[in-house]
Order: sequence, then structure tokens, then C-alpha cells
Amino acid sequence: MDDAHSHVIGFDVYGTLVDPIELKVPLRQFVGDRAERFAALWREKQIEYSFRRGLMRVYVDFDVCTRQALQYTALALAVELSNADQRGLLAAYRNLAPFPEARAALEALKRRGHRLFAFSNGVEATVRALLGHAGLAAYLDNVISVDDLNTFKPDPAVYQYLAKRAGTPPEATWLISSNSWDVIGAQAAGLRTAWVQRQSTTVFDPWGTEPELVVRNLTELVERLYRLG
Ligand code: LAC
Repeated sequence: MDDAHSHVIGFDVYGTLVDPIELKVPLRQFVGDRAERFAALWREKQIEYSFRRGLMRVYVDFDVCTRQALQYTALALAVELSNADQRGLLAAYRNLAPFPEARAALEALKRRGHRLFAFSNGVEATVRALLGHAGLAAYLDNVISVDDLNTFKPDPAVYQYLAKRAGTPPEATWLISSNSWDVIGAQAAGLRTAWVQRQSTTVFDPWGTEPELVVRNLTELVERLYRLG
């Protein structure tokens, strides 16, 4: 059992540690001022595809969801993307930038003795490479991927898997995510949760449940966990 000041913390990756919406920058050359809309629809479809795959129990990995969501988005917004363009954009997806405060926040948490895990719907090798490029890998104890279970968040089995791999009971395991569906999924599986509400306009799903902590960014998470003890 960890002492009172050391927590086991699982971080969602896409949207929490690295920013998929920053793809609007490479997207601009293809779709001009629709780049932000393209990036947002791509992300929405990617998530939807993973949910549907999980429900249908027809698993393909998250890289496939990402690629098929890119193809959908190009079709839906009537944007012509060659195979080479698609490969370039998917490469950019494997190379997303970290949120500006992520590195310092993980470093501070690590220094305080917490055990930190990346916990993602993403494929383990893809997430490892991504976090390496983003300069975050050194602060993480391990990368835990749902790919091991052939299902996706928010299946309760994957949150229990995080706790099992970390060697802690679910009620002593944290899930940190900017995605409210992820936070709600983790709560339903008995984990402690913090929601990273990066924009004040982002809404938490009104399902009658609240995260234990709401923070604006990971720097604030460090402070709030410190105060919790
Ligand atoms: C993740 C995505 C879904 O699990 O945000 O990293």
C-alpha cells in the first residue's frame, strides 16, 4: 500500500497529455480555415468509432479507428486527401505536441513520489513513441493500453485493468482526463477521478455525478493533489 502522500495516477493521453486539436496547424494546408472543424470532427469520429467497436465487440486497434475517422472526415467535409496526404496527417497524429504545462507537471508529481501511468485507448507502441517525441516518457512509470484487452474505455474492464497493472485497488487509483466520458467511466469502475476542464466552456456530462477534482490544467492538478495529501 502506498503511503498517504503517494498516489497511483493514470493519465488519459489524447486531449489530456497531448493535444489532438493542434493538428489544425498541418491541416490548414489542406482545408484552410476549416482546419479546426476538421480536427474536431476527426477526433469526435475517432472516439465514436472506438465506442461502437467496443459495443459491437468487433475490435480493431485505435490506430485503425484514427485512420478510418480521418477518411470519414475527409468525405464528410468533401476534402480530397491523397494517400500520401493521409499518411502525412497520420504521422502528425503520432507526433502530437504536449500541452504546454504537461512536462513540468509530470516532473513535479514524479518528484513527489507519485507513480504515474499513461493509460490510453491508443496502441501501446504508438503511445510510447508519441510520449517519447513529446518529452513525457521519462516521467511515466509505464504505458498501459486497452489494446491488451481488445476493448476500449469506458468499458469498466479497462479501468480495473489499470488498477490491476498498477497493483492498487480501484478506489486507490486515480484517473486524470479531460474527457468527461472517461472520468465518468472511471468513476463507475470505482476509481478516483480528476477532470481537466481546459476551457471554461467545456461541459461535464450531466449524468448526476461529479469528479472528485476539477482542475483547469495539470499544474493545478499538482497543487490540488498536494493539498489532498
Ligand atoms: C485516450 C484517448 C481516448 O485514451 O483520449 O488516450
